[in-house]
Amino acid sequence: MKASAPGKIILFGEHAVVYKRPALAVPVNQVKADVEVSESNQPGVQIHAPNIGLTSDLASLPPDHPIASVILKTIQALGVSPLPNLSLTIESTIPVAAGLGSGAAVSVALIRALSTFFSHPLIDGQINELAFEIEKFHHITPSGIDNTVITYNMPVYYMKEKPIETFKPGKPFTIVIGDTGIPAPTKESVGDVRRLWLRDQPRFEAIFDEVAQISTMARHFIVSGRPELLGELMDHNHEFLQQLTVSSPELDALVETARKAGAFGAKLSGGGRGGNMIALADPASAESVAGALMSAGAKRTIITEIN
Ligand code: PMV
Repeated sequence: MKASAPGKIILFGEHAVVYKRPALAVPVNQVKADVEVSESNQPGVQIHAPNIGLTSDLASLPPDHPIASVILKTIQALGVSPLPNLSLTIESTIPVAAGLGSGAAVSVALIRALSTFFSHPLIDGQINELAFEIEKFHHITPSGIDNTVITYNMPVYYMKEKPIETFKPGKPFTIVIGDTGIPAPTKESVGDVRRLWLRDQPRFEAIFDEVAQISTMARHFIVSGRPELLGELMDHNHEFLQQLTVSSPELDALVETARKAGAFGAKLSGGGRGGNMIALADPASAESVAGALMSAGAKRTIITEIN
């Protein structure tokens, strides 16, 4: 039994989403996590995850290990007992700690593969809930946006504690993703924003309100087929992220490079400090924007069409 899940990128609203403002995220199908489950003649559950250099028996891993915890929670949710001998192979092309949702994608692919293998296929809502449980187990206050966009594999307008809204672009558009290569310490940046917010709530609530307006307008432009208007919104969102102190010299430099190379707008994406930035580009100039980002020090670029 095989299952896979895509990567994701946040277009608008990161950090503000933790404070119940809307954010937009889209799947990135150029990268994905694949899981294969099969019966095995070796005892126990053999896990093979070559990308992270892991070959182990489930029983030898601590229960809070990121992969072990997904397997244990899924098996518990499915009510499978006793567990047959299994072999699990996990392969992923999603860079780790880069804001592309690698952890949530592995969780979603594992939950899907295991639940189908045990003839107990779960609907997206159940997969999403379980994946969110796992996110909460590993991060302090995840908004839930990663597991949602990855489970549904659709653009998502996400607000904490609100029903999930997926949406369709009225016209496709192209995003260039540039990776600083610096691990994005999401927990740290979320914690720092929390400390700033605690010291001056009126100021930070006002920033979150501005970002909320940007996300709402962005969805409107995407759905109504006017994605070219997103560039300016990206630039504004980036300024607010700078005020939240989550940008970095490397992110600012790549954002500036993308704009100079002809992108309509650019911003950091995700937790910040490291990880990725994104730029809105004409399909014809996406390659040259990506090339400029590489020359300016990006470790990797991905060109993705949102449709
Ligand atoms: O770095 P990423 O892509 O995992 O995104 C973090 C997004 C935040 O809004 C900063 C945190 C969250 O849980 O939504």
